[in-house]
Amino acid sequence: MAGSNGKYAPMQRYAQIVGWGKALPDRIVTNSDLEQIVDTNDEWIRSRTGIQQRRIAVDPNETTATLATKAARAALEVADVPAARLDLIICSTSSPEHIFPSTASLVQDALGATSAGAFDLSAACSGFVYGLSLAKGMIASGQADNIIVIGSETLSRIIDWSDRNTCVLFGDGAGAVLVQASPVPGGVLSTVLGSDGSGGDLLIVPAGGSRQPATLETVASGQHFTKMDGRAVFRFATRIMAEATREVLEKANLSIDDIDLIIPHQANERIIRSAMKQLGLPPEKVFINVQYYGNTSTASIPIALTEALDQKRLKPNDNMVMVGFGAGLTWAATAIKWAAPEVQEAPLWRAGQRSAEYGLARVRSRFLQFSRKVEGSLITEEGDAWSEVLSKRITAWRETREEEPEEE
Ligand code: ACO
Repeated sequence: MAGSNGKYAPMQRYAQIVGWGKALPDRIVTNSDLEQIVDTNDEWIRSRTGIQQRRIAVDPNETTATLATKAARAALEVADVPAARLDLIICSTSSPEHIFPSTASLVQDALGATSAGAFDLSAACSGFVYGLSLAKGMIASGQADNIIVIGSETLSRIIDWSDRNTCVLFGDGAGAVLVQASPVPGGVLSTVLGSDGSGGDLLIVPAGGSRQPATLETVASGQHFTKMDGRAVFRFATRIMAEATREVLEKANLSIDDIDLIIPHQANERIIRSAMKQLGLPPEKVFINVQYYGNTSTASIPIALTEALDQKRLKPNDNMVMVGFGAGLTWAATAIKWAAPEVQEAPLWRAGQRSAEYGLARVRSRFLQFSRKVEGSLITEEGDAWSEVLSKRITAWRETREEEPEEE
Protein backbone atom coordinates (compact mmCIF):
# COMPACT_ATOMS: atom_id res chain seq x y z
CA MET A 1 0.00 0.00 0.00
CA ALA A 2 1.71 3.22 -1.14
CA GLY A 3 1.58 6.23 1.16
CA SER A 4 1.17 9.84 -0.09
CA ASN A 5 4.90 10.51 0.32
CA GLY A 6 5.67 7.71 -2.11
CA LYS A 7 7.00 5.39 0.63
CA TYR A 8 5.27 2.19 1.64
CA ALA A 9 3.18 2.64 4.75
CA PRO A 10 3.33 -0.39 7.05
CA MET A 11 0.17 -2.45 6.83
CA GLN A 12 -1.72 -2.58 10.14
CA ARG A 13 -1.93 -6.13 11.40
CA TYR A 14 -4.10 -6.92 14.40
CA ALA A 15 -3.92 -10.08 16.50
CA GLN A 16 -7.44 -11.48 16.85
CA ILE A 17 -8.50 -14.53 18.83
CA VAL A 18 -10.54 -16.50 16.28
CA GLY A 19 -10.65 -19.97 17.87
CA TRP A 20 -10.82 -21.33 21.41
CA GLY A 21 -11.19 -24.64 23.18
CA LYS A 22 -10.62 -26.58 26.36
CA ALA A 23 -9.88 -30.14 27.44
CA LEU A 24 -10.53 -31.58 30.88
CA PRO A 25 -10.02 -35.03 32.33
CA ASP A 26 -13.29 -36.89 33.01
CA ARG A 27 -12.48 -37.78 36.61
CA ILE A 28 -14.06 -35.35 39.09
CA VAL A 29 -12.51 -35.25 42.56
CA THR A 30 -14.74 -33.52 45.12
CA ASN A 31 -13.76 -31.96 48.42
CA SER A 32 -15.40 -34.91 50.18
CA ASP A 33 -13.13 -37.25 48.20
CA LEU A 34 -10.15 -35.33 49.58
CA GLU A 35 -11.47 -35.68 53.13
CA GLN A 36 -10.68 -39.38 52.70
CA ILE A 37 -6.96 -38.80 52.07
CA VAL A 38 -5.91 -35.71 54.07
CA ASP A 39 -7.04 -33.93 57.21
CA THR A 40 -9.34 -31.40 55.55
CA ASN A 41 -13.04 -30.77 55.05
CA ASP A 42 -15.42 -29.42 52.44
CA GLU A 43 -16.31 -26.37 54.54
CA TRP A 44 -12.65 -25.30 54.93
CA ILE A 45 -11.86 -25.69 51.24
CA ARG A 46 -15.03 -23.90 50.06
CA SER A 47 -14.76 -21.00 52.48
CA ARG A 48 -10.99 -20.44 52.00
CA THR A 49 -10.79 -21.01 48.24
CA GLY A 50 -14.25 -21.31 46.65
CA ILE A 51 -13.24 -24.67 45.18
CA GLN A 52 -15.85 -27.46 45.23
CA GLN A 53 -14.25 -29.96 42.88
CA ARG A 54 -11.41 -30.38 40.40
CA ARG A 55 -10.58 -32.64 37.44
CA ILE A 56 -7.69 -35.07 37.78
CA ALA A 57 -5.95 -37.01 34.98
CA VAL A 58 -5.99 -40.47 36.56
CA ASP A 59 -5.32 -42.30 33.29
CA PRO A 60 -1.52 -42.35 32.81
CA ASN A 61 -2.08 -41.94 29.06
CA GLU A 62 -3.77 -38.60 29.68
CA THR A 63 -0.92 -36.11 29.86
CA THR A 64 -0.10 -32.44 29.45
CA ALA A 65 0.48 -33.04 25.71
CA THR A 66 -2.72 -35.01 25.09
CA LEU A 67 -4.83 -32.42 26.90
CA ALA A 68 -3.02 -29.63 25.02
CA THR A 69 -3.62 -31.38 21.70
CA LYS A 70 -7.35 -31.78 22.44
CA ALA A 71 -7.71 -28.11 23.38
CA ALA A 72 -5.73 -27.00 20.30
CA ARG A 73 -7.89 -29.16 18.01
CA ALA A 74 -11.02 -27.63 19.53
CA ALA A 75 -9.65 -24.11 18.89
CA LEU A 76 -8.80 -24.98 15.27
CA GLU A 77 -12.29 -26.43 14.83
CA VAL A 78 -13.98 -23.24 16.07
CA ALA A 79 -11.88 -21.17 13.66
CA ASP A 80 -12.22 -23.77 10.89
CA VAL A 81 -8.49 -23.53 10.21
CA PRO A 82 -6.43 -26.63 9.32
CA ALA A 83 -3.34 -27.39 11.41
CA ALA A 84 -1.24 -27.17 8.24
CA ARG A 85 -1.73 -23.39 8.28
CA LEU A 86 -0.18 -22.91 11.73
CA ASP A 87 3.07 -20.94 11.89
CA LEU A 88 3.76 -21.37 15.58
CA ILE A 89 2.67 -23.41 18.60
CA ILE A 90 3.34 -21.92 22.03
CA CYS A 91 2.61 -24.25 24.92
CA SER A 92 2.72 -22.71 28.35
CA THR A 93 3.09 -25.30 31.10
CA SER A 94 4.70 -25.97 34.48
CA SER A 95 4.10 -29.70 34.19
CA PRO A 96 5.68 -30.50 30.82
CA GLU A 97 5.94 -34.05 29.53
CA HIS A 98 9.75 -33.91 29.79
CA ILE A 99 12.52 -31.39 30.45
CA PHE A 100 13.00 -31.83 26.72
CA PRO A 101 11.65 -32.30 24.09
CA SER A 102 9.12 -29.54 24.52
CA THR A 103 5.46 -30.44 25.00
CA ALA A 104 4.74 -28.01 22.15
CA SER A 105 6.75 -30.18 19.73
CA LEU A 106 4.70 -33.24 20.72
CA VAL A 107 1.53 -31.24 20.10
CA GLN A 108 2.89 -30.09 16.72
CA ASP A 109 3.44 -33.72 15.74
CA ALA A 110 -0.01 -34.83 16.94
CA LEU A 111 -1.69 -31.99 15.04
CA GLY A 112 0.34 -32.61 11.88
CA ALA A 113 1.27 -28.92 11.89
CA THR A 114 4.17 -29.43 9.51
CA SER A 115 4.81 -25.73 8.87
CA ALA A 116 4.82 -24.68 12.53
CA GLY A 117 7.62 -23.88 14.94
CA ALA A 118 6.97 -25.03 18.49
CA PHE A 119 8.26 -24.21 21.95
CA ASP A 120 7.27 -24.34 25.61
CA LEU A 121 6.91 -21.28 27.76
CA SER A 122 7.59 -21.34 31.49
CA ALA A 123 5.95 -18.52 33.45
CA ALA A 124 3.69 -20.62 35.72
CA CYS A 125 0.09 -19.40 35.96
CA SER A 126 0.91 -16.20 34.04
CA GLY A 127 2.22 -18.20 31.09
CA PHE A 128 -0.88 -18.17 28.91
CA VAL A 129 -1.01 -14.35 28.91
CA TYR A 130 2.77 -14.24 28.28
CA GLY A 131 2.06 -16.46 25.25
CA LEU A 132 -0.67 -14.13 23.99
CA SER A 133 1.71 -11.21 24.28
CA LEU A 134 4.33 -13.06 22.20
CA ALA A 135 1.72 -14.04 19.63
CA LYS A 136 0.60 -10.45 19.27
CA GLY A 137 4.20 -9.31 18.71
CA MET A 138 4.89 -12.02 16.12
CA ILE A 139 1.70 -11.18 14.26
CA ALA A 140 2.08 -7.40 14.40
CA SER A 141 5.64 -7.67 13.06
CA GLY A 142 4.51 -9.87 10.18
CA GLN A 143 6.46 -12.95 11.28
CA ALA A 144 3.41 -15.18 11.65
CA ASP A 145 -0.26 -15.32 10.63
CA ASN A 146 -1.63 -18.19 12.70
CA ILE A 147 -0.41 -19.00 16.21
CA ILE A 148 -1.86 -21.47 18.67
CA VAL A 149 -1.34 -20.43 22.29
CA ILE A 150 -1.98 -23.25 24.76
CA GLY A 151 -2.03 -23.46 28.53
CA SER A 152 -1.90 -27.07 29.70
CA GLU A 153 -1.22 -28.75 33.02
CA THR A 154 -1.27 -32.07 34.82
CA LEU A 155 -0.23 -30.55 38.12
CA SER A 156 -1.69 -33.56 39.95
CA ARG A 157 1.53 -35.36 38.94
CA ILE A 158 3.74 -32.90 40.84
CA ILE A 159 1.55 -32.48 43.92
CA ASP A 160 2.16 -34.17 47.24
CA TRP A 161 -1.17 -35.86 47.90
CA SER A 162 -0.41 -36.00 51.61
CA ASP A 163 0.11 -32.20 51.86
CA ARG A 164 -3.24 -30.54 52.61
CA ASN A 165 -1.73 -27.09 52.07
CA THR A 166 -1.42 -27.72 48.34
CA CYS A 167 -3.33 -30.83 47.23
CA VAL A 168 -6.76 -29.27 47.75
CA LEU A 169 -5.97 -26.33 45.47
CA PHE A 170 -4.90 -27.66 42.09
CA GLY A 171 -6.50 -29.44 39.13
CA ASP A 172 -5.63 -30.66 35.63
CA GLY A 173 -6.78 -29.30 32.28
CA ALA A 174 -5.91 -27.37 29.14
CA GLY A 175 -7.18 -24.41 27.16
CA ALA A 176 -6.08 -23.00 23.82
CA VAL A 177 -6.74 -20.11 21.47
CA LEU A 178 -5.91 -19.53 17.83
CA VAL A 179 -4.51 -16.03 17.35
CA GLN A 180 -4.73 -14.83 13.76
CA ALA A 181 -3.46 -11.84 11.79
CA SER A 182 -6.35 -9.61 10.77
CA PRO A 183 -6.85 -6.21 9.15
CA VAL A 184 -9.86 -5.65 11.47
CA PRO A 185 -8.90 -3.23 14.28
CA GLY A 186 -9.06 -4.63 17.81
CA GLY A 187 -7.94 -7.93 19.24
CA VAL A 188 -5.00 -7.83 21.64
CA LEU A 189 -4.66 -4.10 22.42
CA SER A 190 -2.01 -4.11 25.13
CA THR A 191 -0.09 -6.42 27.42
CA VAL A 192 1.82 -6.12 30.68
CA LEU A 193 4.39 -8.72 31.72
CA GLY A 194 6.15 -8.75 35.06
CA SER A 195 8.49 -10.78 37.22
CA ASP A 196 10.01 -10.63 40.70
CA GLY A 197 12.43 -13.52 41.04
CA SER A 198 13.20 -12.62 44.65
CA GLY A 199 9.96 -14.48 45.43
CA GLY A 200 11.02 -17.61 43.57
CA ASP A 201 11.07 -19.69 46.74
CA LEU A 202 7.43 -18.93 47.61
CA LEU A 203 6.09 -21.39 45.06
CA ILE A 204 8.57 -23.94 43.85
CA VAL A 205 9.30 -27.52 42.82
CA PRO A 206 12.80 -27.65 44.36
CA ALA A 207 14.32 -30.71 42.66
CA GLY A 208 14.45 -32.28 39.23
CA GLY A 209 16.21 -29.39 37.50
CA SER A 210 19.95 -28.74 37.16
CA ARG A 211 20.16 -27.11 40.61
CA GLN A 212 19.05 -30.28 42.37
CA PRO A 213 19.09 -33.21 39.97
CA ALA A 214 17.02 -36.26 40.90
CA THR A 215 18.65 -38.50 43.49
CA LEU A 216 17.28 -41.12 45.86
CA GLU A 217 17.37 -38.47 48.60
CA THR A 218 15.46 -35.81 46.63
CA VAL A 219 12.78 -38.35 45.82
CA ALA A 220 12.60 -39.70 49.38
CA SER A 221 12.26 -36.20 50.84
CA GLY A 222 9.52 -35.15 48.38
CA GLN A 223 11.57 -32.41 46.74
CA HIS A 224 9.94 -33.10 43.37
CA PHE A 225 6.58 -31.90 44.65
CA THR A 226 5.13 -28.39 44.73
CA LYS A 227 6.00 -26.36 47.86
CA MET A 228 4.14 -23.17 48.60
CA ASP A 229 3.98 -20.36 51.12
CA GLY A 230 0.24 -19.83 50.67
CA ARG A 231 -0.12 -16.69 52.76
CA ALA A 232 2.74 -14.86 51.00
CA VAL A 233 1.40 -15.82 47.57
CA PHE A 234 -2.06 -14.67 48.65
CA ARG A 235 -0.78 -11.21 49.64
CA PHE A 236 1.21 -10.85 46.41
CA ALA A 237 -1.71 -12.03 44.26
CA THR A 238 -4.36 -9.66 45.60
CA ARG A 239 -2.05 -6.66 45.12
CA ILE A 240 -0.63 -7.54 41.71
CA MET A 241 -3.92 -8.48 40.02
CA ALA A 242 -5.31 -5.00 40.63
CA GLU A 243 -2.04 -3.23 39.72
CA ALA A 244 -1.51 -5.16 36.47
CA THR A 245 -5.13 -4.58 35.42
CA ARG A 246 -4.82 -0.81 35.92
CA GLU A 247 -1.52 -0.74 34.02
CA VAL A 248 -2.76 -2.72 31.04
CA LEU A 249 -5.90 -0.58 30.77
CA GLU A 250 -3.83 2.59 30.80
CA LYS A 251 -1.64 1.22 27.99
CA ALA A 252 -4.80 0.54 25.96
CA ASN A 253 -6.27 3.99 26.74
CA LEU A 254 -9.18 2.40 28.58
CA SER A 255 -10.64 2.94 32.03
CA ILE A 256 -12.07 0.48 34.55
CA ASP A 257 -15.58 1.49 33.44
CA ASP A 258 -14.76 0.41 29.88
CA ILE A 259 -14.31 -3.21 30.97
CA ASP A 260 -17.18 -5.48 29.94
CA LEU A 261 -15.63 -8.67 31.27
CA ILE A 262 -12.52 -9.58 33.25
CA ILE A 263 -11.16 -13.10 33.30
CA PRO A 264 -8.71 -13.44 36.19
CA HIS A 265 -6.49 -16.43 36.88
CA GLN A 266 -8.66 -18.91 38.78
CA ALA A 267 -6.57 -19.70 41.85
CA ASN A 268 -8.81 -18.74 44.72
CA GLU A 269 -12.20 -17.01 44.78
CA ARG A 270 -11.12 -14.85 47.73
CA ILE A 271 -8.11 -13.55 45.81
CA ILE A 272 -10.33 -12.72 42.83
CA ARG A 273 -13.03 -10.99 44.92
CA SER A 274 -10.45 -8.97 46.84
CA ALA A 275 -8.67 -7.78 43.67
CA MET A 276 -11.97 -6.93 41.95
CA LYS A 277 -13.10 -4.97 45.00
CA GLN A 278 -9.90 -2.89 44.82
CA LEU A 279 -10.71 -2.19 41.17
CA GLY A 280 -14.35 -1.40 41.92
CA LEU A 281 -15.58 -4.00 39.43
CA PRO A 282 -19.08 -5.41 40.01
CA PRO A 283 -19.39 -9.24 40.25
CA GLU A 284 -21.34 -9.49 36.97
CA LYS A 285 -18.26 -8.28 35.08
CA VAL A 286 -16.01 -10.96 36.57
CA PHE A 287 -15.84 -14.50 35.27
CA ILE A 288 -15.29 -17.18 37.93
CA ASN A 289 -15.27 -20.97 37.46
CA VAL A 290 -12.67 -21.96 40.08
CA GLN A 291 -15.42 -23.89 41.92
CA TYR A 292 -15.46 -26.57 39.19
CA TYR A 293 -11.78 -26.98 38.30
CA GLY A 294 -9.63 -25.65 41.15
CA ASN A 295 -6.41 -23.93 40.13
CA THR A 296 -5.36 -25.32 36.74
CA SER A 297 -2.43 -22.86 36.66
CA THR A 298 -1.71 -21.57 33.15
CA ALA A 299 -4.75 -23.43 31.75
CA SER A 300 -7.22 -21.57 33.95
CA ILE A 301 -7.58 -18.42 31.84
CA PRO A 302 -8.11 -20.10 28.44
CA ILE A 303 -10.52 -22.62 30.03
CA ALA A 304 -12.44 -19.72 31.59
CA LEU A 305 -12.41 -17.79 28.30
CA THR A 306 -13.85 -20.80 26.45
CA GLU A 307 -16.62 -21.15 29.04
CA ALA A 308 -17.34 -17.40 29.02
CA LEU A 309 -17.80 -17.61 25.24
CA ASP A 310 -19.99 -20.71 25.55
CA GLN A 311 -22.13 -18.72 28.00
CA LYS A 312 -22.25 -15.74 25.59
CA ARG A 313 -20.60 -13.46 28.14
CA LEU A 314 -18.67 -11.69 25.35
CA LYS A 315 -19.98 -9.96 22.24
CA PRO A 316 -18.26 -8.06 19.40
CA ASN A 317 -16.63 -4.80 20.50
CA ASP A 318 -16.62 -5.76 24.18
CA ASN A 319 -13.50 -4.79 26.09
CA MET A 320 -12.06 -7.56 28.18
CA VAL A 321 -9.07 -8.07 30.43
CA MET A 322 -7.27 -11.30 31.26
CA VAL A 323 -4.94 -11.12 34.24
CA GLY A 324 -2.81 -13.75 35.92
CA PHE A 325 -0.12 -14.25 38.55
CA GLY A 326 1.99 -17.18 39.59
CA ALA A 327 5.27 -18.75 40.51
CA GLY A 328 8.37 -16.83 39.56
CA LEU A 329 6.94 -14.65 40.88
CA THR A 330 5.32 -13.59 37.63
CA TRP A 331 2.29 -11.65 36.53
CA ALA A 332 0.70 -10.74 33.21
CA ALA A 333 -2.34 -8.91 31.89
CA THR A 334 -3.83 -8.19 28.49
CA ALA A 335 -6.59 -5.87 27.32
CA ILE A 336 -8.56 -7.11 24.33
CA LYS A 337 -11.23 -5.63 22.13
CA TRP A 338 -13.27 -8.67 21.26
CA ALA A 339 -13.73 -8.87 17.50
CA ALA A 340 -13.94 -12.57 16.75
CA PRO A 341 -16.36 -13.25 13.92
CA GLU A 342 -19.52 -15.22 14.72
CA VAL A 343 -18.73 -18.93 14.77
CA GLN A 344 -20.05 -20.42 11.55
CA GLU A 345 -21.50 -23.91 11.44
CA ALA A 346 -18.92 -25.88 9.41
CA PRO A 347 -20.22 -28.32 6.77
CA LEU A 348 -20.74 -31.85 8.13
CA TRP A 349 -17.99 -33.37 6.02
CA ARG A 350 -15.43 -31.09 7.69
CA ALA A 351 -15.38 -33.22 10.85
CA GLY A 352 -14.52 -36.28 8.74
CA GLN A 353 -11.83 -34.34 6.90
CA ARG A 354 -10.30 -33.19 10.17
CA SER A 355 -10.19 -36.64 11.72
CA ALA A 356 -8.65 -37.99 8.47
CA GLU A 357 -5.97 -35.26 8.69
CA TYR A 358 -5.18 -36.16 12.32
CA GLY A 359 -5.08 -39.84 11.33
CA LEU A 360 -2.62 -38.97 8.58
CA ALA A 361 -0.54 -36.98 11.08
CA ARG A 362 -0.27 -40.16 13.21
CA VAL A 363 0.74 -42.24 10.20
CA ARG A 364 3.29 -39.61 9.15
CA SER A 365 4.77 -39.55 12.65
CA ARG A 366 5.07 -43.37 12.82
CA PHE A 367 6.56 -43.44 9.31
CA LEU A 368 9.20 -40.83 10.22
CA GLN A 369 10.08 -42.77 13.39
CA PHE A 370 10.34 -46.01 11.42
CA SER A 371 12.45 -44.51 8.62
CA ARG A 372 14.80 -43.00 11.21
CA LYS A 373 15.26 -46.46 12.73
CA VAL A 374 15.93 -48.03 9.32
CA GLU A 375 18.37 -45.26 8.46
CA GLY A 376 20.07 -45.76 11.85
CA SER A 377 20.48 -49.49 11.28
CA LEU A 378 22.19 -48.78 7.95
CA ILE A 379 24.84 -46.59 9.55
CA THR A 380 28.17 -48.28 10.32
CA GLU A 381 30.24 -47.80 13.46
CA GLU A 382 32.36 -45.23 11.63
CA GLY A 383 29.20 -43.24 11.03
CA ASP A 384 29.05 -43.90 7.30
CA ALA A 385 25.71 -44.52 5.65
CA TRP A 386 25.28 -48.01 4.22
CA SER A 387 25.29 -46.67 0.63
CA GLU A 388 28.70 -45.06 1.22
CA VAL A 389 30.06 -48.30 2.65
CA LEU A 390 28.83 -50.16 -0.40
CA SER A 391 30.42 -47.75 -2.82
CA LYS A 392 33.74 -47.84 -0.87
CA ARG A 393 33.70 -51.65 -1.01
CA ILE A 394 33.04 -51.68 -4.75
CA THR A 395 35.89 -49.22 -5.34
CA ALA A 396 38.24 -51.33 -3.20
CA TRP A 397 37.19 -54.48 -5.03
CA ARG A 398 37.79 -52.78 -8.42
CA GLU A 399 41.23 -51.63 -7.28
CA THR A 400 42.23 -55.17 -6.20
CA ARG A 401 40.96 -56.50 -9.54
CA GLU A 402 43.10 -53.96 -11.35
CA GLU A 403 46.15 -54.92 -9.28
CA GLU A 404 45.71 -58.68 -9.89
CA PRO A 405 47.90 -59.89 -12.79
CA GLU A 406 45.85 -61.10 -15.71
CA GLU A 407 45.88 -64.84 -16.14
CA GLU A 408 47.60 -66.19 -19.22
N1 ACO B 1 -7.75 -28.14 55.24
C1 ACO B 1 -7.90 -27.75 56.53
N2 ACO B 1 -7.05 -26.88 57.14
C2 ACO B 1 -6.03 -26.41 56.39
C3 ACO B 1 -5.82 -26.80 55.05
C4 ACO B 1 -6.74 -27.70 54.50
N3 ACO B 1 -6.64 -28.12 53.23
N4 ACO B 1 -4.73 -26.17 54.59
C5 ACO B 1 -4.25 -25.43 55.59
N5 ACO B 1 -5.04 -25.57 56.69
C6 ACO B 1 -4.89 -24.94 57.98
C7 ACO B 1 -3.51 -24.44 58.26
O1 ACO B 1 -2.69 -25.47 58.71
C8 ACO B 1 -3.75 -23.37 59.27
O2 ACO B 1 -3.87 -23.96 60.51
P1 ACO B 1 -3.14 -23.29 61.80
O3 ACO B 1 -3.80 -21.95 61.95
O4 ACO B 1 -3.45 -24.25 62.89
O5 ACO B 1 -1.70 -23.19 61.44
C9 ACO B 1 -5.13 -22.83 58.91
O6 ACO B 1 -5.74 -23.80 58.05
C10 ACO B 1 -5.10 -21.49 58.19
O7 ACO B 1 -4.10 -21.54 57.19
P2 ACO B 1 -3.78 -20.30 56.30
O8 ACO B 1 -2.61 -20.63 55.43
O9 ACO B 1 -3.73 -19.06 57.10
O10 ACO B 1 -5.10 -20.23 55.41
P3 ACO B 1 -5.46 -19.13 54.38
O11 ACO B 1 -6.73 -18.52 54.72
O12 ACO B 1 -4.29 -18.24 54.03
O13 ACO B 1 -5.73 -20.02 53.06
C11 ACO B 1 -4.65 -20.76 51.06
C12 ACO B 1 -4.71 -20.86 52.58
C13 ACO B 1 -5.98 -21.20 50.51
C14 ACO B 1 -3.54 -21.65 50.55
C15 ACO B 1 -4.40 -19.29 50.67
O14 ACO B 1 -3.32 -18.78 51.39
C16 ACO B 1 -4.13 -19.12 49.20
O15 ACO B 1 -5.02 -19.33 48.38
N6 ACO B 1 -2.92 -18.67 48.83
C17 ACO B 1 -2.57 -18.47 47.42
C18 ACO B 1 -2.24 -19.77 46.81
C19 ACO B 1 -2.18 -19.71 45.32
O16 ACO B 1 -2.97 -19.04 44.70
N7 ACO B 1 -1.24 -20.44 44.74
C20 ACO B 1 -1.14 -20.62 43.36
C21 ACO B 1 -0.40 -19.54 42.66
S1 ACO B 1 -0.51 -19.72 40.99
C22 ACO B 1 0.70 -20.76 40.40
O17 ACO B 1 1.71 -20.35 39.88
C23 ACO B 1 0.50 -22.26 40.43
